[in-house]
Amino acid sequence: MILVTGGAGFIGSHTCAALSEQGLPYVVLDNFCNSKPSVLERLARITGQRLTLIEGDVRDGALVSRVLREHGITAVIHFAGLKAVGESVADPLKYYDTNVAGTVTLLSAMRAAGVRTMVFSSSATVYGDPVGSPIREDAALQPTNPYGHSKLMAEQLMADLDRSEPGQWRLARLRYFNPVGAHASGLIGEDPQDVPNNLMPYVAQVAAGTRKELSVFGGDYATADGTGVRDYIHVSDLAEGHVAALRYLQDHAGLLTVNLGTGEPVSVLQMVKAFERASGVPVPYRIVDRRPGDVAAYWADPDTAARLLGWKTSRNVDQMCADVWRWQNGEARRL
Ligand code: NAD
Ligand code: WQD
Repeated sequence: MILVTGGAGFIGSHTCAALSEQGLPYVVLDNFCNSKPSVLERLARITGQRLTLIEGDVRDGALVSRVLREHGITAVIHFAGLKAVGESVADPLKYYDTNVAGTVTLLSAMRAAGVRTMVFSSSATVYGDPVGSPIREDAALQPTNPYGHSKLMAEQLMADLDRSEPGQWRLARLRYFNPVGAHASGLIGEDPQDVPNNLMPYVAQVAAGTRKELSVFGGDYATADGTGVRDYIHVSDLAEGHVAALRYLQDHAGLLTVNLGTGEPVSVLQMVKAFERASGVPVPYRIVDRRPGDVAAYWADPDTAARLLGWKTSRNVDQMCADVWRWQNGEARRL
């Protein structure tokens, strides 16, 4: 039985769908600080299965220990965390409490319960402003904000734990690039609670007429069209990457570190054009000043995942946009 912490969230819910698709049983622990219980009802419609949900906080060691014991957990996929860079700058303690202390509490409870397999949500943000792309896993780790520091600290504690008990742990640190998209059913997707920080949900809301126009943060970067370049990965590809990592850990003890990306650089304006093709509606935009803290360009070298996990992405930018558009319209109908 797999424990999915943060399983009601954007990536967690899509990973639950992938687990169900591959016949792997799981339970969800979530405190709903950035998601809604209704996601799990829609997930049940997708999977055709009743879900076991425990509402609670990953920082509650007694609760986590009880869940591990009562549900016979054998492995954990740990999504529960906070992810807003700007908020982490304003309130770093909140990020260290959840992303670091929460991970310590979880791993301590796992060790006490004899559960020693965990897949962890890390982020390409640990690379900070990379020297160049594509980025390999052995690139310099130089995060530039408390959120990135919290992810690197959690990675470091996993490495120290593995070293302290050689061969006893099976730990995967998955560094996601830019997850976008939505489940093909249109029933689950990215559901920001207020004004979207990220590009894709904002573009979708402009296309839907909820927002007037997209502000393109910077048109003078040293990129092909002057706008920021990223490695956008479909959330369903990302979800399948987690199942592949879990299967790898079943056969390999130790510490695994893998980039999860497409290896394909895409600019803001390329994404805007792709969304217009997918939706059939214009996405008005205005090029404004750069956003502080943004880097010009980064994308993954996806070779480690291909070699070790036998996994690579299969959904392109057009499908990412088409799936988001279906979700956006479906979401609008439900409001
Ligand atoms: P999300 O906010 O949609 O999902 C996180 C889930 O965890 C939410 O359902 C939230 O309610 C829950 N949660 C948060 N704190 C909790 C706690 N203390 N106890 C229990 N549940 C808690 O975010 P997401 O986009 O699905 O990201 C999932 C993970 O992946 C996060 O750790 C994030 O840092 C990481 N990540 C996300 C991105 C991205 O761009 N979305 C990129 C790289 C890494
Ligand atoms: C993408 C591109 C912007 C919004 C963030 C976090 C990172 C990770 C993924 C958690 C950039 C441009 C954006 C807009 C724009 N999250 N943009 N107008 O900043 O690459 O990564 O999400 O781990 O930690 O930092 O993603 O979607 O915000 O930006 O022009 O309204 O789109 O400048 O070039 P980012 P993003």
